[in-house]
Amino acid sequence: MKKFLAFFGLIVILCGLGAYHVLANQTREVNMSDKKILIAYYSHSGNTKAVAEKIKNTTGGDLFEITPKTPYPNDYNTVVNLAKEEKQQDKRPELADNGSVDGYDIVFVGTPVWWYTMAGPVKTFLTVHNFDGKTIVPFCTHGGGGASYTYSDMQKLAPGAKVLEGYTSYERTASDADVENWIKSLNL
Ligand SMILES: Cc1cc2nc3c(=O)[nH]c(=O)nc-3n(C[C@H](O)[C@H](O)[C@H](O)COP(=O)(O)O)c2cc1C
Repeated sequence: MKKFLAFFGLIVILCGLGAYHVLANQTREVNMSDKKILIAYYSHSGNTKAVAEKIKNTTGGDLFEITPKTPYPNDYNTVVNLAKEEKQQDKRPELADNGSVDGYDIVFVGTPVWWYTMAGPVKTFLTVHNFDGKTIVPFCTHGGGGASYTYSDMQKLAPGAKVLEGYTSYERTASDADVENWIKSLNL
C-alpha cells in the first residue's frame, strides 16, 4: 500500500509539472501573438537567411527578404571591393521592393556584417521606412569580427525606434536552441 501511495504521489507531481510547463508555454505564445512581427533581412550567401528562418519558426512572424534592385556579384573579391566603395560613399542602394513596416510592432532586422557595419541594402531599408515607436530587434552574421558597429549604426538610421539586444553569430553556426533562447530572453 505504501509503495502504491508513493507511486501515486509521484504521478500526481509529474502531472502537475507537465501542466505547469504547458501553461507557461501557452502564456509566452499568447504574449508574442499580441504583437505583429516582421522579420526583414538581407543575405548575400545564405547565412543571415538561415537565422531569419529560425526566427520565423520561433515567432511566427512575417518574413521579408530585402533585395537590392541590382543584385551584388557572387564573386567574393568583387563584392568585397564594391561594398567597400559603397561604404566609403555612404551609399543607399535602391531596393527591388521597399516592402512595408506599417502595422508591425516589432521588426527583426538582419544583415551580414559588411565592412564593420550592416550591408547597404539594410541601410536603405531602415532609411526608407518610419520606425518611430517601433521595436527593432537586430541580428547579424559575421566572418570572425563580430557585430562591430552594426547595431549602433542601426539605431542611428532609425532614431525613433527602440533597438533591443541583438543576436550575433559566426557564419552558419547559429543553432535553433540559441535563437530560441535569445528570443525568450527578450520577453517580447
Ligand atoms: C562585402 C563583405 C564584407 C564583409 N565584411 C566583414 C566584416 O567587416 N567583419 C566580419 O566579421 N565579416 C565580414 N564579412 C563576412 C560576412 O559578414 C559573413 O560571411 C556573413 O555570415 C555573410 O552573411 P550572408 O551569408 O547572409 O551574406 C564580409 C563579407 C563580405 C561579402
